[in-house]
Amino acid sequence: MNKLITIESHFLQQQKLYPEVNAEVIDLLHDVAFAAKLVRREVVRAGLADILGLAGSTNVQGEEVKKLDLFANEKIICAIGQHGRFAIMGSEENDSIIIPPQNETGNYALLFDPLDGSSNIDVNVSVGTIFSIYRIKSDDPGKASLEDCLQSGAEQVAAGYVIYGSSVVMVYTTGHGVHGFTYDPTIGEFLLSHENITTPERGKYYSANEGSWQEFNDGTKRFLDYLKEEDKATGRPYSTRYIGSFVADFHRNLLTGGVFVYPATKKHKQGKLRLMYEANPMAFICEQAGGRATDGERRILDIEPTELHQRTPLYIGSTEDVLVAEEFEQGKR
Ligand code: AHG
Ligand code: MN
Ligand code: MN
Ligand code: MN
Repeated sequence: MNKLITIESHFLQQQKLYPEVNAEVIDLLHDVAFAAKLVRREVVRAGLADILGLAGSTNVQGEEVKKLDLFANEKIICAIGQHGRFAIMGSEENDSIIIPPQNETGNYALLFDPLDGSSNIDVNVSVGTIFSIYRIKSDDPGKASLEDCLQSGAEQVAAGYVIYGSSVVMVYTTGHGVHGFTYDPTIGEFLLSHENITTPERGKYYSANEGSWQEFNDGTKRFLDYLKEEDKATGRPYSTRYIGSFVADFHRNLLTGGVFVYPATKKHKQGKLRLMYEANPMAFICEQAGGRATDGERRILDIEPTELHQRTPLYIGSTEDVLVAEEFEQGKR
């Protein structure tokens, strides 16, 4: 029988191996795993909303029923923000920065997408939570400001995601490889299931919303056509896989190899995905697993953000595939 390693004992091992990873960061990851359990509890009961009450109405307990993404947002802010470990937080669901209670003792900033792929909740398709952690720049955490959130992805000290799928899996990195844990609901623990994830250099899947074809630029169209051409050497044609939940599309491609493309379109001139909550954390994980992430021109992790809710075109996944995508986007092919 394989040895069971809980997320807690894994973190202890990692701290011994990499003493430079601050113990506070490990505590923060624990908090995220705890918050994920709270979100999971609601996600698996999502179909009961009709019975217990619709979003915007009142449920049988007389409580106002919230949309699940707003519920997840509140739970995460509450579960993670209460220990005074974060000086500042930013969420996809909040227009501006969040200052948690006792922030004057926190040295870190948390940026997160509480529920990614939320349009998929009502139809039982995988959704997720994505998070990104930075050390703040201010000397005085009590005075942390937007500037402490607006750091390039290369400054991240940890990042990860939780996918609420056929099983619940948490994947994280602190810059020392990528590790994944599967939640065992019978004992309430995340158990190490994917140690040192590495992504294949070339994939067999591509993920893009081709319904937006008319909105794509020529480079994107030619890249997608290229992926459909037959070529034994590169294993083309690739298969299409597109769920519409970034977490789920990314997770599959990370494990099996592949490329996810959300380019700039006529409708989304800067792309649709958000740099701080979606692109940066996944780019950190992807690079740690041996993959690549760019906006077509620049490495995602090198982009200097100017706005909390900034969007970016995104090409992410297996290195060979992303390199080819860049050549098409840059008109070199
Ligand atoms: P969110 O649910 O957090 O707002 O994110 C939705 C995103 C992402 O999960 C997904 O990759 C993308 O929207 C899908 O967009 P399209 O429907 O335009 O394909
Ligand atoms: Mn999202
Ligand atoms: Mn979201
Ligand atoms: Mn949203």
